[in-house]
Amino acid sequence: MIKLDITQTAVGASAAEIASLKEAAEQANGLLHSGKGAGNDFLGWVNLPAEVTPDVLAEIEAAAKGLADVAEVIVVIGIGGSYLGAKAVLDAMTDSFHYLHRERKAPYIVFAGCNISETYTAELLDALKSYSIATIVISKSGTTTEPAIAFRLMKAEIEARYGVEEARKRIVAVTDKARGALKSLSDSEGYKSFVIPDNVGGRFSVLTPVGLLPLAAAGINVAELVRGAQDMQRATAEDVPYEQNIAAQYAAARNALYNKGYKIEILASYEPRLQYIAEWWKQLYGESEGKEGKGIFPASVTLTADLHSMGQYIQEGERTLFETVISVEKPLREVTIEADKDNLDGLNFLAGKRLDEVNKMAELGVVLAHVDGGVPNIKIPIPEINEYYIGALLYMFEKACGISGYILGVNPFNQPGVEAYKKNMFALLDKPGYEAESEAIRARLK
Ligand code: PA5
Repeated sequence: MIKLDITQTAVGASAAEIASLKEAAEQANGLLHSGKGAGNDFLGWVNLPAEVTPDVLAEIEAAAKGLADVAEVIVVIGIGGSYLGAKAVLDAMTDSFHYLHRERKAPYIVFAGCNISETYTAELLDALKSYSIATIVISKSGTTTEPAIAFRLMKAEIEARYGVEEARKRIVAVTDKARGALKSLSDSEGYKSFVIPDNVGGRFSVLTPVGLLPLAAAGINVAELVRGAQDMQRATAEDVPYEQNIAAQYAAARNALYNKGYKIEILASYEPRLQYIAEWWKQLYGESEGKEGKGIFPASVTLTADLHSMGQYIQEGERTLFETVISVEKPLREVTIEADKDNLDGLNFLAGKRLDEVNKMAELGVVLAHVDGGVPNIKIPIPEINEYYIGALLYMFEKACGISGYILGVNPFNQPGVEAYKKNMFALLDKPGYEAESEAIRARLK
């Protein structure tokens, strides 16, 4: 299973300082289970893995197959928590050079509605011209501007190509059970739709159809993803002692470091496939903890690449950073470095070694160097990149996030600050109902 190693944090917070948060971590975990903490109307994710039954998966897989049968490309529309989970798992489970392989077993998945770039959108619409297409539109509120614009465009494209009747087979919605424009629209158009439970917030929704439907359509083994999460649900349950509960320990360690002035956490990995796991993690922790003037700032690096860009700062910049490394124990493929008769590059000392051994020694060397440079290190070893361990990792991070937010003293399940930009944008775009804001903002910009 996934483990946690906090033996290299002493440069920032001692084992005793971390252990002093044991009780707080246990209490926080208890609150997630009793539902007596802040934001308790958004705790549906806590028991979610256990609720994804074979019947639930069968319905998702059937809808995914329906789309995969008719489309070479599936456009997944969503933003934030309605995007990052699927993108993260998809990237983790996909050959890095899949686009160079001519044989494909599953449709291409592309994402839209995760930005408002005209260039991106036009390029996507152009690229889709050579393929048969379908779309999964995901929005819990059903009112988010970015995905709503992208869906308007995709709906028009699909209806123009295939007609309104056929479009119904090529569009699936994932949204609230009763509210929002997307719900009304999908009801009136007769689209197949899946429900995002009321009590599951966007950034905790990867194990609902929000994540599972696009992933199933991409041919990912979602049953294994869920099985990994189910095992981690058990391994981090309320009755699991702190000493065995890696979510509680991770939450305690990062709060102990925060209390000692380590305000930035860098999630690092040596596997490029995990880059979007870090993006998902950044949203999870940033949106859950960054409020009331508090919270660890979540950042990420992919190594060894970023040692050649961010390495200098991490080694010698302001000492407010700590690093959490997702350390993949076994690579998915083998490459051995060969001897060269001329040895002009001087690398024959590596001859016969697996590339992974070099990667692992780089990782070890970096940890030692960073710890020597005053950067506390947390390590999360995972046996290998597969659906099972990724599912376990996602749930572990979710559980630790809930615990950590409660230790910090915030409501980890709201995101009031996200509304500020929307209000300004709507005012600037003269959305009906925003007349007063419009006037105020225009006066301010004069
Ligand atoms: O985590 C969250 O709640 C947010 O990031 C939302 O997922 C994001 O804003 C998209 O919202 P919606 O699914 O309502 O379109």
